[in-house]
Amino acid sequence: MGDAQDRREAPAEEYWGESASAAFLDYGAIYTPERERIARAFLDLIPAERDERFVAVDIGTGQGWLSAAILRAFPAARALALDGSPAMLDAARRLLAPFAGRVELHPFRLEDPAWPDALPGSVRCFVSCLVIHHLDGPQKRALYARLHGRLEPGGALLIADVIAPASAHGVRHAARAWDAAVERQSLAIAGDLGAYRKFVEEGWNLYEHPDPIDKPSPLPDQLRWLDEAGFAGVDVFWMQAGHALFGGYKPARTG
Ligand SMILES: C[S@@+](CC[C@H](N)C(=O)[O-])C[C@H]1O[C@@H](n2cnc3c(N)ncnc32)[C@H](O)[C@@H]1O
Repeated sequence: MGDAQDRREAPAEEYWGESASAAFLDYGAIYTPERERIARAFLDLIPAERDERFVAVDIGTGQGWLSAAILRAFPAARALALDGSPAMLDAARRLLAPFAGRVELHPFRLEDPAWPDALPGSVRCFVSCLVIHHLDGPQKRALYARLHGRLEPGGALLIADVIAPASAHGVRHAARAWDAAVERQSLAIAGDLGAYRKFVEEGWNLYEHPDPIDKPSPLPDQLRWLDEAGFAGVDVFWMQAGHALFGGYKPARTG
């Protein structure tokens, strides 16, 4: 995803790049199919009562909209918002300023296997939107196992992300449906097709413009990795245009 020129010039491990951050800050709400609906689904799925104290970790928070939604819906919750991009962390700091005292922002490298173990305290849920596809299959599988180890019993790992359709027909449908969603949202949110034109010109539709930075994995594989890691209630909660919200729950302690 993002500016192909920027990615060619960036060092290998910096492929997301600050120009991708800038574009996503401007247009992320339009480039993400049904962000509002995804947000509501995350809030329904978080295993907590409204007034409970718990910690949510937002993996790759971007401008922080998901952390903001959680902090608004759960007034006693705290959020740890992680991202590798200085521009994204700056934007998240601004958006999350009204929640000062309940939120911490930290830089992290998604590929660093040590980051989950470096988190302070216990974690009720890990949430992530459009980030984990930057890891390859074995890295995702290892991450799911590590996150299971860091969760409280009864906690959840909830992921919204692009996935790899199982057939060329599925890829074609994901490509067309994503394109149509962005065209629709460009008109509905911005009132014109400017954002849609940028989406097309800059090749953000990874189903039409595959890029080594994007490593989506098949959904059945990811559900199996969650299952193998020990998660229960593993399910797909929403899906549209190659984007899925899926996850599972760490079994509560019994006895
Ligand atoms: C598509 S944006 C999604 C942001 C946000 N979750 C949202 O839904 O708007 C991807 C985010 O992941 C971060 N990111 C991408 N690759 C990363 C990496 N290797 N390590 C840390 N953060 C990374 C980017 O900085 C960016 O904020």
